[in-house]
Amino acid sequence: MKESEAVRILRDLLDVANLNDLQEAIFRCSWQGLSYPQMSTELGYDAGYIRVVGFQLWQALSDALGQPVTKKNLHSRFEQYAQQLAQIQPVSSAVPLNKFGQADHQDWGDRPDLTTFYGRQSELTRLQDWIQHDRCRLVGIFGIGGIGKTAIATQCAEQLQHDFQYVLWQSLRNAPPPNQFVVEAIQFLSDQQAIEQNLPPDVGGRIDHLLGYLNAQHC
Ligand SMILES: Nc1ncnc2c1ncn2[C@@H]1O[C@H](COP(=O)(O)OP(=O)(O)OP(=O)(O)O)[C@@H](O)[C@H]1O
Ligand SMILES: [Mg+2]
Repeated sequence: MKESEAVRILRDLLDVANLNDLQEAIFRCSWQGLSYPQMSTELGYDAGYIRVVGFQLWQALSDALGQPVTKKNLHSRFEQYAQQLAQIQPVSSAVPLNKFGQADHQDWGDRPDLTTFYGRQSELTRLQDWIQHDRCRLVGIFGIGGIGKTAIATQCAEQLQHDFQYVLWQSLRNAPPPNQFVVEAIQFLSDQQAIEQNLPPDVGGRIDHLLGYLNAQHC
Protein backbone atom coordinates (compact mmCIF):
# COMPACT_ATOMS: atom_id res chain seq x y z
CA MET A 1 0.00 0.00 0.00
CA LYS A 2 1.26 3.45 -0.89
CA GLU A 3 1.93 5.93 1.88
CA SER A 4 -0.64 8.36 0.43
CA GLU A 5 -3.34 5.66 0.57
CA ALA A 6 -2.42 4.84 4.15
CA VAL A 7 -2.64 8.54 5.09
CA ARG A 8 -6.07 8.74 3.48
CA ILE A 9 -7.25 5.82 5.58
CA LEU A 10 -5.66 7.41 8.66
CA ARG A 11 -7.56 10.65 8.04
CA ASP A 12 -10.84 8.77 7.55
CA LEU A 13 -10.32 6.71 10.68
CA LEU A 14 -9.35 9.54 13.00
CA ASP A 15 -11.35 12.33 11.39
CA VAL A 16 -9.14 15.19 10.23
CA ALA A 17 -10.33 17.39 13.12
CA ASN A 18 -8.77 14.96 15.63
CA LEU A 19 -5.48 14.55 13.77
CA ASN A 20 -2.76 17.17 14.10
CA ASP A 21 0.17 17.78 11.75
CA LEU A 22 2.72 16.23 14.11
CA GLN A 23 0.69 13.02 14.44
CA GLU A 24 0.39 12.79 10.68
CA ALA A 25 4.14 13.38 10.29
CA ILE A 26 4.85 10.65 12.88
CA PHE A 27 2.52 8.34 11.00
CA ARG A 28 4.32 9.00 7.70
CA CYS A 29 7.75 8.48 9.27
CA SER A 30 6.59 5.26 10.94
CA TRP A 31 5.17 4.08 7.62
CA GLN A 32 8.62 4.65 6.10
CA GLY A 33 10.15 2.61 8.93
CA LEU A 34 11.96 5.43 10.76
CA SER A 35 12.85 4.97 14.41
CA TYR A 36 11.80 7.55 17.04
CA PRO A 37 15.34 9.00 17.29
CA GLN A 38 15.44 9.34 13.47
CA MET A 39 12.04 11.07 13.56
CA SER A 40 13.33 13.40 16.22
CA THR A 41 16.08 14.55 13.85
CA GLU A 42 13.77 14.62 10.84
CA LEU A 43 10.92 16.52 12.50
CA GLY A 44 12.89 18.65 14.96
CA TYR A 45 11.11 17.51 18.13
CA ASP A 46 12.48 15.88 21.26
CA ALA A 47 12.50 12.06 20.89
CA GLY A 48 10.65 11.60 24.20
CA TYR A 49 7.88 13.93 23.06
CA ILE A 50 7.60 12.12 19.72
CA ARG A 51 7.28 8.83 21.58
CA VAL A 52 4.40 10.21 23.72
CA VAL A 53 2.53 11.68 20.74
CA GLY A 54 3.19 8.47 18.81
CA PHE A 55 1.80 6.39 21.66
CA GLN A 56 -1.39 8.50 21.68
CA LEU A 57 -1.69 8.00 17.94
CA TRP A 58 -1.37 4.18 18.14
CA GLN A 59 -3.92 4.25 20.98
CA ALA A 60 -6.42 6.26 18.89
CA LEU A 61 -5.87 3.95 15.91
CA SER A 62 -6.31 0.86 18.10
CA ASP A 63 -9.64 2.25 19.32
CA ALA A 64 -10.73 3.05 15.76
CA LEU A 65 -9.80 -0.38 14.37
CA GLY A 66 -10.79 -2.38 17.45
CA GLN A 67 -7.39 -4.13 17.39
CA PRO A 68 -4.03 -3.19 18.89
CA VAL A 69 -2.09 -1.02 16.44
CA THR A 70 1.61 -0.45 17.02
CA LYS A 71 4.43 1.12 15.08
CA LYS A 72 5.55 -2.39 14.15
CA ASN A 73 2.27 -3.86 12.89
CA LEU A 74 1.09 -0.68 11.15
CA HIS A 75 1.49 -1.99 7.60
CA SER A 76 -0.25 -5.29 8.21
CA ARG A 77 -3.14 -3.70 10.16
CA PHE A 78 -3.75 -1.15 7.40
CA GLU A 79 -3.51 -3.73 4.59
CA GLN A 80 -5.99 -5.89 6.45
CA TYR A 81 -8.38 -2.96 6.99
CA ALA A 82 -8.15 -1.94 3.30
CA GLN A 83 -9.06 -5.50 2.28
CA GLN A 84 -12.07 -5.45 4.61
CA LEU A 85 -13.17 -2.11 3.13
CA ALA A 86 -12.88 -3.45 -0.41
CA GLN A 87 -15.14 -6.37 0.50
CA ILE A 88 -17.78 -4.14 2.11
CA GLN A 89 -17.93 -1.41 -0.50
CA PRO A 90 -20.09 -2.50 -3.44
CA VAL A 91 -18.35 -2.24 -6.77
CA SER A 92 -20.25 0.18 -8.97
CA SER A 93 -21.34 -1.30 -12.28
CA ALA A 94 -21.39 2.13 -13.94
CA VAL A 95 -17.71 2.84 -14.49
CA PRO A 96 -17.23 6.51 -15.42
CA LEU A 97 -15.80 6.88 -18.90
CA ASN A 98 -13.52 9.69 -19.99
CA LYS A 99 -13.85 11.50 -23.31
CA PHE A 100 -11.71 8.78 -24.91
CA GLY A 101 -14.40 6.24 -24.04
CA GLN A 102 -12.10 4.54 -21.53
CA ALA A 103 -12.55 3.87 -17.85
CA ASP A 104 -10.80 6.55 -15.84
CA HIS A 105 -7.38 5.83 -14.41
CA GLN A 106 -7.26 8.00 -11.35
CA ASP A 107 -5.22 8.18 -8.22
CA TRP A 108 -6.35 11.06 -6.07
CA GLY A 109 -3.77 10.28 -3.39
CA ASP A 110 -4.30 12.43 -0.31
CA ARG A 111 -6.22 15.16 -2.07
CA PRO A 112 -7.96 17.40 0.48
CA ASP A 113 -11.63 16.75 1.01
CA LEU A 114 -13.41 19.74 -0.53
CA THR A 115 -17.11 19.48 0.28
CA THR A 116 -18.02 23.08 -0.49
CA PHE A 117 -16.38 25.44 -2.92
CA TYR A 118 -17.49 29.04 -3.34
CA GLY A 119 -16.87 31.61 -6.03
CA ARG A 120 -13.58 31.88 -7.94
CA GLN A 121 -15.50 31.34 -11.19
CA SER A 122 -13.42 33.71 -13.30
CA GLU A 123 -10.17 32.18 -12.01
CA LEU A 124 -11.50 28.66 -12.68
CA THR A 125 -12.52 29.59 -16.20
CA ARG A 126 -9.08 31.05 -16.83
CA LEU A 127 -7.35 27.91 -15.54
CA GLN A 128 -9.56 25.66 -17.65
CA ASP A 129 -8.91 27.82 -20.69
CA TRP A 130 -5.18 27.55 -20.25
CA ILE A 131 -5.28 23.79 -19.78
CA GLN A 132 -7.95 22.81 -22.32
CA HIS A 133 -7.51 25.34 -25.11
CA ASP A 134 -3.95 26.61 -24.78
CA ARG A 135 -2.73 23.12 -23.76
CA CYS A 136 -0.55 24.50 -20.97
CA ARG A 137 1.58 21.71 -19.53
CA LEU A 138 2.44 23.52 -16.32
CA VAL A 139 0.33 25.96 -14.35
CA GLY A 140 1.61 27.58 -11.17
CA ILE A 141 -0.77 29.00 -8.58
CA PHE A 142 0.85 31.47 -6.21
CA GLY A 143 -0.52 33.44 -3.29
CA ILE A 144 -0.28 34.02 0.43
CA GLY A 145 -0.89 31.12 2.82
CA GLY A 146 -4.50 30.02 3.16
CA ILE A 147 -5.84 32.08 0.27
CA GLY A 148 -7.23 28.97 -1.44
CA LYS A 149 -4.55 27.75 -3.88
CA THR A 150 -5.00 24.06 -3.04
CA ALA A 151 -8.80 24.47 -3.03
CA ILE A 152 -8.94 25.93 -6.53
CA ALA A 153 -6.43 23.36 -7.84
CA THR A 154 -8.63 20.57 -6.43
CA GLN A 155 -11.78 22.05 -7.92
CA CYS A 156 -10.12 22.54 -11.30
CA ALA A 157 -8.76 18.97 -11.35
CA GLU A 158 -12.19 17.59 -10.50
CA GLN A 159 -13.86 19.57 -13.26
CA LEU A 160 -11.33 18.53 -15.92
CA GLN A 161 -10.79 14.92 -14.83
CA HIS A 162 -12.72 13.29 -17.69
CA ASP A 163 -10.66 15.14 -20.29
CA PHE A 164 -7.66 13.05 -19.30
CA GLN A 165 -6.78 9.37 -19.48
CA TYR A 166 -4.77 9.49 -16.27
CA VAL A 167 -5.25 11.72 -13.24
CA LEU A 168 -2.63 11.59 -10.50
CA TRP A 169 -2.72 13.82 -7.42
CA GLN A 170 0.69 14.05 -5.78
CA SER A 171 1.15 16.16 -2.67
CA LEU A 172 4.71 17.22 -1.88
CA ARG A 173 3.80 17.98 1.72
CA ASN A 174 6.51 16.67 4.08
CA ALA A 175 8.81 16.42 1.02
CA PRO A 176 8.70 12.74 0.01
CA PRO A 177 12.02 11.78 -1.67
CA PRO A 178 11.79 12.30 -5.48
CA ASN A 179 12.90 8.75 -6.18
CA GLN A 180 9.88 7.47 -4.29
CA PHE A 181 7.16 9.50 -5.95
CA VAL A 182 8.68 9.30 -9.42
CA VAL A 183 8.63 5.49 -9.22
CA GLU A 184 5.06 5.51 -7.91
CA ALA A 185 4.00 7.84 -10.73
CA ILE A 186 5.66 5.58 -13.35
CA GLN A 187 3.93 2.54 -11.90
CA PHE A 188 0.56 4.30 -11.97
CA LEU A 189 0.98 5.58 -15.55
CA SER A 190 2.12 2.15 -16.76
CA ASP A 191 -0.92 0.45 -15.16
CA GLN A 192 1.47 -1.17 -12.66
CA GLN A 193 3.43 -2.82 -15.51
CA ALA A 194 6.73 -1.01 -14.83
CA ILE A 195 9.02 -2.85 -12.44
CA GLU A 196 11.28 -0.74 -10.24
CA GLN A 197 14.30 -3.02 -10.80
CA ASN A 198 14.06 -2.44 -14.58
CA LEU A 199 14.07 1.37 -14.27
CA PRO A 200 17.25 3.44 -14.53
CA PRO A 201 18.85 3.67 -11.08
CA ASP A 202 19.29 7.46 -11.06
CA VAL A 203 16.50 10.00 -10.53
CA GLY A 204 17.34 11.80 -13.81
CA GLY A 205 16.89 8.61 -15.84
CA ARG A 206 13.66 7.85 -14.03
CA ILE A 207 12.30 11.34 -14.71
CA ASP A 208 13.03 10.81 -18.44
CA HIS A 209 11.08 7.58 -18.21
CA LEU A 210 8.21 9.40 -16.52
CA LEU A 211 8.20 12.09 -19.23
CA GLY A 212 7.88 9.32 -21.83
CA TYR A 213 4.61 8.19 -20.24
CA LEU A 214 3.42 11.79 -19.84
CA ASN A 215 4.05 12.43 -23.55
CA ALA A 216 2.40 9.24 -24.73
CA GLN A 217 -1.00 9.76 -23.13
CA HIS A 218 -3.24 12.52 -21.80
CA CYS A 219 -2.26 12.82 -18.15
N1 LIG B 1 -13.26 28.92 -2.84
C1 LIG B 1 -13.33 28.29 -1.67
N2 LIG B 1 -14.50 27.80 -1.23
C2 LIG B 1 -14.58 27.16 -0.05
N3 LIG B 1 -13.56 26.97 0.79
C3 LIG B 1 -12.36 27.45 0.42
C4 LIG B 1 -12.18 28.13 -0.83
N4 LIG B 1 -10.88 28.50 -0.93
C5 LIG B 1 -10.28 28.06 0.20
N5 LIG B 1 -11.16 27.43 1.00
C6 LIG B 1 -10.88 26.83 2.31
O1 LIG B 1 -9.96 27.67 2.99
C7 LIG B 1 -8.93 26.90 3.60
C8 LIG B 1 -7.57 27.29 3.06
O2 LIG B 1 -7.52 27.03 1.67
P1 LIG B 1 -6.30 26.28 0.96
O3 LIG B 1 -5.80 25.19 1.81
O4 LIG B 1 -6.75 25.96 -0.41
O5 LIG B 1 -5.24 27.47 0.94
P2 LIG B 1 -3.77 27.46 0.35
O6 LIG B 1 -3.62 28.76 -0.36
O7 LIG B 1 -3.54 26.23 -0.43
O8 LIG B 1 -2.92 27.48 1.68
P3 LIG B 1 -1.36 27.09 1.88
O9 LIG B 1 -0.57 28.25 1.35
O10 LIG B 1 -1.25 26.97 3.36
O11 LIG B 1 -1.11 25.82 1.13
C9 LIG B 1 -9.27 25.44 3.33
O12 LIG B 1 -9.99 24.93 4.43
C10 LIG B 1 -10.14 25.50 2.10
O13 LIG B 1 -11.03 24.40 2.02
MG1 LIG C 1 -2.10 24.65 -0.17
